[in-house]
Amino acid sequence: MALWGGRFTSSPAEAVFALSRSIEFDWRLAPYDLRASLAHLMVLEKAKLISSTDAQLIRKSLRELQDEIAQGTFLPAPEDEDVHSALERGLTAKLGATGGALRAGRSRNDQVATDLRLFSLDHMLHIANLVTDLQRAIVAKAGEYVDAPAPGFTHLQHAQPVSFGHELLKHAHALDRDVARIKDWHARSSFSPLGAGALAGSSLHLDPEGVASDLGFTAAIANSIDAVSDRDFVAEALFVLAMIGSHLSRMGEEWCLWASTEFGWAKIDDAFATGSSIMPQKKNPDIAELARGKAGRLIGNLTAVLSMLKGLPFAYNRDLQEDKEPLFDSIDTLNLVLPAFTGMVTTTVFDREKMSASAPTGFSLATEIADYLVRAGVPFAQAHEAAGKCVHTCESEKKELHQLTDSQFTQIHPLLQADVRDVLTVDGALRSRTTFGGTAPANVRSQIGALEGLISSNASWIAGESQRFSGMMGA
Ligand code: ARG
Repeated sequence: MALWGGRFTSSPAEAVFALSRSIEFDWRLAPYDLRASLAHLMVLEKAKLISSTDAQLIRKSLRELQDEIAQGTFLPAPEDEDVHSALERGLTAKLGATGGALRAGRSRNDQVATDLRLFSLDHMLHIANLVTDLQRAIVAKAGEYVDAPAPGFTHLQHAQPVSFGHELLKHAHALDRDVARIKDWHARSSFSPLGAGALAGSSLHLDPEGVASDLGFTAAIANSIDAVSDRDFVAEALFVLAMIGSHLSRMGEEWCLWASTEFGWAKIDDAFATGSSIMPQKKNPDIAELARGKAGRLIGNLTAVLSMLKGLPFAYNRDLQEDKEPLFDSIDTLNLVLPAFTGMVTTTVFDREKMSASAPTGFSLATEIADYLVRAGVPFAQAHEAAGKCVHTCESEKKELHQLTDSQFTQIHPLLQADVRDVLTVDGALRSRTTFGGTAPANVRSQIGALEGLISSNASWIAGESQRFSGMMGA
């Protein structure tokens, strides 16, 4: 059903209708659209633009539609252009001409912007919840391996030994910033466009502030043209989702490496791995790979919306209809990836012996020799040179650092005494890294405590905000 007609002599050509139709993807906004309609109805009634008898009837029909949509008995029809026209068809079918009364003072332009904000606020909270679940899984896993030494890497080369718990925990910190980004985005996006009409506001005595608070928003948007034309809340949400995707992708890459035969550190649980159709011995880290692969579409969706927005003049342009699919896709993607990834993290078992045996290899304790000399008063550049010579000698004699003889040490530097071997242990190296944020197991334990605090305060924020938007959770 077209929502215009008066000034047209013909309906849109079939190709035009096919191009402009958005119902295939915007139908999932229906619960939000109905909720916004109930708020709009309230102000029309208050302003006495709709009699209370009609308002009663319309309210009842909107609620019926809510139920019918939830039960799947009211569905889009081939002639519906978008979710707004489909719902007006539903209302008119129930009420006849009275069904069209709700259109007073509002346009699809402010309607769709409102629906999409409600949808995003609701769904971003859900994503924040899933991210906190993953953080909890990472923190719990890190807790199991605080005392497990492993090689730490830079450039994918052994660098210095670290606590494997510390290595895992870095991801929980990154995800904490993602949740903080959602909170921050949420505060900035919780404003209502409803009441902006097509672009200029309304001559009817509507109450955008009242509608905003009825819908759970912080306030109404201060400029009606901005209200209908802005989609930076979509672009920003897509950035946050892409950032989460990029964090998952980095984690996925590490899981793939750790599960490889070459590393052999991680045993992924059977329920979170897949097999090969031809090679019976294979156990593949597909969840980790999909997490890595799907980062591509998350970044693509952000790029699509930014490119679509960049040249749009003035108020509403139909280009804006292209905001929805990328947003829906990014949300759907993370809704799939996050729980699977969390399950994989929880059930992966790491090989302590293997990690620990490989921790001192690759001369990863060379920095300890340099630091030993610095403590003895040697300037770092000279200390670095001496430690480098130790590595060189070991390489040519196929030895580990602690296997150098006393005289080899003193020949390289007179202050390198036999007790240098005391610092050439993985445990000593780990325990000595006590700077704030460092890898000493005691520090890692306090990092875990701090993270647990952050996670639970985020979880209570999510619970509080979800209540604010309760009642319209739907699609
Ligand atoms: N389906 C449209 C969208 O998503 C609704 C707004 C249509 N507005 C208009 N002026 N044609 O943007």
